[in-house]
Amino acid sequence: MIRLDNRLELCSRFVRCGSRVADIGTDHAYLPAYLCQRGICPSAVAADINPAPLKSGGLTVANEGLTDKIELRLSDGLAEIGEDEADDVVIAGMGGELILRIITAWNYSKNENKRFILQPMTRSEELIAGLDRGGFEIIGQDCCEAAGKCYTVICAGYSGKAPCGDPLFPYLGKLKPRENPLHARFVRNHIARLEKKAIGEPAFGELAARLRNQIE
Ligand SMILES: C[S@@+](CC[C@H](N)C(=O)[O-])C[C@H]1O[C@@H](n2cnc3c(N)ncnc32)[C@H](O)[C@@H]1O
Repeated sequence: MIRLDNRLELCSRFVRCGSRVADIGTDHAYLPAYLCQRGICPSAVAADINPAPLKSGGLTVANEGLTDKIELRLSDGLAEIGEDEADDVVIAGMGGELILRIITAWNYSKNENKRFILQPMTRSEELIAGLDRGGFEIIGQDCCEAAGKCYTVICAGYSGKAPCGDPLFPYLGKLKPRENPLHARFVRNHIARLEKKAIGEPAFGELAARLRNQIE
């Protein structure tokens, strides 16, 4: 049986039971294998832009006896994924800007029945801001620690809503830093980066101070 680290395990918790999943940038295909083995997903597409990771994903699928459930596919983002092939799309382990580009490039993203489970390694604030501008709702968000680092996972879906307009929203999303120490740690990392940027641009310092108020 496949075991996941905290980061991918947190992604798995946002996948809806019974949904067909597409894992974009699957690499080793651990996540779709885990979801299919536990009966959370009946089937999955494990996609990657590069043949080498897809080959490694193929080994996982074969070793775990999941060839009838998981299809491996060479795809740049969601380009090769049809509208009816996935209810829940996972994009984990990439930069926030690339994740946003992948979602906005897909013709079927603005389907209100679809969910996007996103784990940005960097620039989560740009991902959240872009989703917000594009009419996507942040349905849920949580944080975890893996290998000593703090990660966030965002669950989003299109609703056509108006943008939020609060400059703190891209940094806070749905996190509750006053209630959850891991959320507070994630927001503190944002504050530290903003304080560095404030050396050349004082507006970032004000943003950092306002974010700090959200923790204390
Ligand atoms: C760091 S690995 C993440 C693997 C796994 N999703 C995880 O979170 O552990 C990033 C993977 O994304 C793939 N990738 C990068 N850009 C991509 C794109 N535009 N479309 C699909 N896959 C992409 C890379 O080939 C690589 O296998």
